[in-house]
Amino acid sequence: MDLTGKHIVLGLTGGIACYKAAELCRALIKQGATVQVVMTEAAAQFITPVTMQALSNRPVFDSQWDARERNNMPHINLSREADAILIAPCSADFMAKLLHGRADDLLSLMCLARPIDIVPLIVAPAMNREMWSHPATQRNLKQLREDGTHVLGVGNGDQACGETGDGRMLEPEELLQDVIAFFQPKLLAGHKVVVTAGPTFEAIDPVRGITNLSSGKMGFAIARAAQEAGAEVTLVAGPVAQATPRGVARVDVRSALNMRSALMEIANDATIFIATAAVADWRPATAADQKLKKDGSGTTPQLEFVENPDILAEVASSARAVDGALFCVGFAAESHDLLAHASAKRLRKKVPLLVGNIGPATFGQDDNALLLVDAEGATELPRNNKLQLARQLVAEIAKRLHSH
Ligand code: C5P
Repeated sequence: MDLTGKHIVLGLTGGIACYKAAELCRALIKQGATVQVVMTEAAAQFITPVTMQALSNRPVFDSQWDARERNNMPHINLSREADAILIAPCSADFMAKLLHGRADDLLSLMCLARPIDIVPLIVAPAMNREMWSHPATQRNLKQLREDGTHVLGVGNGDQACGETGDGRMLEPEELLQDVIAFFQPKLLAGHKVVVTAGPTFEAIDPVRGITNLSSGKMGFAIARAAQEAGAEVTLVAGPVAQATPRGVARVDVRSALNMRSALMEIANDATIFIATAAVADWRPATAADQKLKKDGSGTTPQLEFVENPDILAEVASSARAVDGALFCVGFAAESHDLLAHASAKRLRKKVPLLVGNIGPATFGQDDNALLLVDAEGATELPRNNKLQLARQLVAEIAKRLHSH
């Protein structure tokens, strides 16, 4: 679980998005966090403390005069225990209060009284589009960021008031992912990462083609892990059915040639290239314009193949990669003799790091095991889910960037 051991104070302020806070509270707990809910008086107009107590399994605090605390200082005690204070929803009014350091209710008092260097404050704004775009709110937003508050984005779409635009609170699942990302170490801050993922599809005719069983899960997990680590990430994906990780730019491609041209543009200013895609080695020499027809005679089409360009080898031999400005990581999906094949592939493709995995044990699976091969030797990352492995791989890459 991604939030095991984290204690989060979940603050609710007045807004219709309070209904989403119930789901968020559950989601945080499901990921291993403990959640202490603090509500403003306005929040309690939208959702009851009873609901939030039942979901968090802890009494809700809503008053600075709460006598349950022995020292009568809930604002001190609650903030000292927290790994983060998350305000979701955060109303326009509450943003303005935070900004001025006002402290006339428990939640704002607690935010002001928190040890600012130890307990981060994360806010998820939620308001009508006019309130959101108002110069006062935008000014407050900027100042809050300058004061060290981590301000999450807002969603776009239908609003409870019947208008449509920016300002609605992100969905609970999106907030959860942003909170998980917040806690990940920023090992790749300032880096631009390109990841290829999934299979390619090589057309035979307009309706048929050759592909493979790569699901894209490993590459998508790596893109997510790199984004969590603070990098700007572009994911070049073959035909897969995976959801785009939050904050990752995605370019969909079909064939190896499509993937190559997309990549050549993006790789120009990237600092890390991770090639997880299972690019087809060969494509039909010609793709028929029209569907090949069965004529009843029993003759079968004779397919001829040509080799696809090796995208990784090409990028790895570019001037920027050779100079060390672009760190390239290759993957090898093998069925046996992983170490020998991965080592040979590393040398052949001229990449500093090659990651071996067993093809049949990874394609389509949620788990995998990786063997990292570099000039120093081999490191094993034992079987784990792909996101955990991706985070470990990101840490291994970050370690090698400094010595590269
Ligand atoms: O040669 P092989 O296909 O086993 O190499 C695998 C590695 O090379 C992977 O990182 C894969 O993404 C990359 N590759 C590529 N272009 C190809 C074939 C493989 O980038 N045409």
